[in-house]
Amino acid sequence: MTFDNSKWVWMNGRVIPWANATTHVSAHALHYGSGVFEGMRCYETPDGPAVFRLEAHLDRLFASAEIHGIKIPYSPQELVAGVSELVARNGFRSCYVRPICYLGSGSLGVHPANNPVEVVILAWPWAPYLGAEGLEQGVRVTVSPWRKFQSTMMPTTAKACGQYLNSMLAVRDAVSRGFAEALLLDADDNLAEGSGENLFIVRDGELLTNDERHSILLGITRDSVLQLARDLGYRVEIRALQLADLLSASEAFFTGTAAEVTPIREVDGTMIGQGRRGPVTEKIQSAFFAATAGRDERYKDWLHPIEFRPAEVVPELLQEVS
Ligand SMILES: Cc1ncc(COP(=O)(O)O)c(C=O)c1O
Repeated sequence: MTFDNSKWVWMNGRVIPWANATTHVSAHALHYGSGVFEGMRCYETPDGPAVFRLEAHLDRLFASAEIHGIKIPYSPQELVAGVSELVARNGFRSCYVRPICYLGSGSLGVHPANNPVEVVILAWPWAPYLGAEGLEQGVRVTVSPWRKFQSTMMPTTAKACGQYLNSMLAVRDAVSRGFAEALLLDADDNLAEGSGENLFIVRDGELLTNDERHSILLGITRDSVLQLARDLGYRVEIRALQLADLLSASEAFFTGTAAEVTPIREVDGTMIGQGRRGPVTEKIQSAFFAATAGRDERYKDWLHPIEFRPAEVVPELLQEVS
């Protein structure tokens, strides 16, 4: 992953050069993680670039902000315009888009006062999070020694900056032990989710997944996959999942904006099913990528079209002098 091709950033209502999109070291969010964010993908379609489920992501952004008392000083329509302008200005046909709203500089009491809400949107090209090979072959995961925090400690349905220390501990431990991703249990020993993905299990041709009662972020990819699976005629059950359900499953996969639909082929040395992408996962994957690529009319409403323009060059005069 590199930011090299990302030349512009939307910051507080203006599109500015990447190098100028800075914030002060006294920003509240830097010290306490007081921010909320989103991650979405813009895909190349026959009609040009399109952001997948933009409105759903912005709804979740505003809901996360409300939970954490962060007043976003822009309307959803202004952020839609911001995302559209930013992707077009960078000349991307496909990319990842990251809006973030955080408490800036003003005071450093834990209880914030006089801290402006800074709103920034970044965009950059980002390959599949768990690897293109992972999408085809599946990934090896480990059950994390770190538990997913419970919603009585911090709301898991909000996507807030500080809570990602929990995910970071889990994924660093997993990677240090040679796994692609960590799977976190909740406080009651049920499966929760990956450090940045939701979990699905396939058993007897049926799909199983959990919900917010098991400390997960309610993923928008999860929601899309639930609809795609039902439309494909699969029965879907939402309930608590145990590790034993996963280990005895015929297939399992992760869903997430970054990881898309990634098969799980092994958990701590135990093969899941045949130890490779299974047929149900493959069907769900194809349906998902047909929807994101604008190849399935039924899901056109999930795509927000973006005008394609060649990347705008940053005039030298605007570049920050350091
Ligand atoms: C902890 C966690 N769970 C699940 C997801 C998947 O959510 P979505 O499909 O909305 O990207 C993400 C990614 O945003 C995440 O960070």
